[in-house]
Amino acid sequence: MKQVLLSLILILTVATSATAQGYTPTEENLRSRKEFAEDRFGIFIHWGIYSIFAQGEWYLQNVGLNRDEYAKAADAFYPHRFNAKEWVAAIKASGAKYICFTSRHHDSFSMWDTAESEFNIVDATPYKRDILKELAKECKKQGIALHLYYSHADWSRDEYPRGRTATGVTGRNAELINWPAYYNFMNRQITELLTNYGPVRAIWFDGWWDHDEDETPFDWQLDEQYALVHKLQPACLVANNHHQVPFEGEDIQIFERDLPGENTHGLSGQAISRLPLETCQTMNGMWGYKVVDQDYKSTETLIRYLVSAAGKGANLLLNVGPQPNGELPEAALERMKAMGEWLSVNGDTIYATEAGDVAQQEWGCTTRKGDRLFVHIFELEGDAVVLPLECEVIEATVFASGESVSFEKCDGGYRIITGPVTDAIDYIVELRTK
Ligand code: GLC
Repeated sequence: MKQVLLSLILILTVATSATAQGYTPTEENLRSRKEFAEDRFGIFIHWGIYSIFAQGEWYLQNVGLNRDEYAKAADAFYPHRFNAKEWVAAIKASGAKYICFTSRHHDSFSMWDTAESEFNIVDATPYKRDILKELAKECKKQGIALHLYYSHADWSRDEYPRGRTATGVTGRNAELINWPAYYNFMNRQITELLTNYGPVRAIWFDGWWDHDEDETPFDWQLDEQYALVHKLQPACLVANNHHQVPFEGEDIQIFERDLPGENTHGLSGQAISRLPLETCQTMNGMWGYKVVDQDYKSTETLIRYLVSAAGKGANLLLNVGPQPNGELPEAALERMKAMGEWLSVNGDTIYATEAGDVAQQEWGCTTRKGDRLFVHIFELEGDAVVLPLECEVIEATVFASGESVSFEKCDGGYRIITGPVTDAIDYIVELRTK
């Protein structure tokens, strides 16, 4: 076990130095990466005053509102059904091991008691409760890791240098654009987040792409900011949703709406690094609560997506957009519950696994844990799957029942004879290999 750990640390160190010459992650950071990678499943929460409009988190920019008119929503934000204990319990029961919470989205509203802007949950709403504090406390109590989403892009503050989004948003004073002021503001906020809310396992940046079409490349001064994060909490993982290969100083690689290597949404397809991986995905169509968006993916689809992410060695960060009253939508809760039930039986084939030996197939995928190779069959018309394996198969059993499964050596690998699989979410065959 110790040896496995050491070789993993070595792999992660090598992987990091391949992408980052100046940055050497600390021991705590490497441990944190390992724990993160073992978790395989997290819940993303997009929540802010935008939930009141019920049009998703991009409403301010999509309509091109006046920022001061938009900000009035804060005075009506009173999520009387918010209950951190219930949220965290429901998230834990889904089998997720961490929560990523939007501390401040592109609209600039802060969901904690920040001294850096009055536009926050305590000063600008009648609710006056530090939601992040309650959430962080509950996460600690119930033993679930906390990650914080933090937007680089800002659609409300005067000092923020305008990017390619929110060009229609009015009410900002262009004469006050001041990058150093904005940058320092962000760093002071990040300092608050990493000082006053206990251990934060990751800071999940987003919005870099707002300046990806600038004529002169925009300097976000990320090195210094990442160093600040690592100085305040060495174990805190730096993630950035820039849709590029990881930059120096980042600890994990994230993908949006696509599994690593795929690109159905036009945001991914970038090379896959050897850092721990995560794909974020919505349960319905939007991240923030959107009243018309009831097109929820089925439990079967979501479970298979989670399994497929694990098959690629990636975590799934699955989003829920809470309602303005503070409740998680019923449709989301139902799916989370079903995923938790599935994971309580099959989690051994997902948590702490690595990508399996065989890349994704039409019938499903594979995950590996030590000498156990899990063959996840979603659908199979024929009666066997052929696995091009370099290892030797010693034994094959149905994961759920322990019943043995026939297998034979064939050209280029092994045939695992299961018979057709038509009525399972995921029919799992466990192979012992050598
Ligand atoms: C995009 C969107 C943002 C969302 C994020 C989640 O970057 O701008 O609204 O928070 O994706 O992955």
